[in-house]
Amino acid sequence: MIKTSIISFTCNEYDNAEEMNPADKELLLSAQETATNAYAPYSHFRVGAAVRLAGGKIINGTNVENAAFSSGICAERNALANASSNHPEDKPVAIAIAAMTESGLTDEPVSPCGNCRQVIAEEEFRNGNNIRIILGGKKKIQIIEKGGDLLPLQFNRNSMKITPR
Ligand code: THU
Repeated sequence: MIKTSIISFTCNEYDNAEEMNPADKELLLSAQETATNAYAPYSHFRVGAAVRLAGGKIINGTNVENAAFSSGICAERNALANASSNHPEDKPVAIAIAAMTESGLTDEPVSPCGNCRQVIAEEEFRNGNNIRIILGGKKKIQIIEKGGDLLPLQFNRNSMKITPR
């Protein structure tokens, strides 16, 4: 007997940043500004991420590429690693992502890659809170209430029945 499950999530969409709440708008602007600092000589695709910590601080990251392509790192993981390394007592509660091609900010939102989704999911687990995902394009902004929504059927500590020490 086959049982069919539908796994879905809600995404709120905005036409422009003016419609967002001020804190989210600030976070997205920060991600957009940071994207200009990316080191992306190979893809010419510059990505900026801005992490909001529960205490209010904003921590940024960009993609940093490498001639050995797999040694490069995405903006989201750079920002989250920076937050974890420098503010271990403060939890990420939101992350905004923006990207630029050679002709400027992308029209459409850019969504985190699979590796970054896995890292966002780990942050949600270790801190026990959701991380709001804010994806900004010039023509559309998407807000997803938790990173886990972007990684259904995820592999995590529960999959191993392990309690981290
Ligand atoms: N990239 C990110 O930084 N974040 C994403 O969510 C998608 C991709 C980077 C990796 C690489 O430097 C460039 O964008 C092209 O894939």
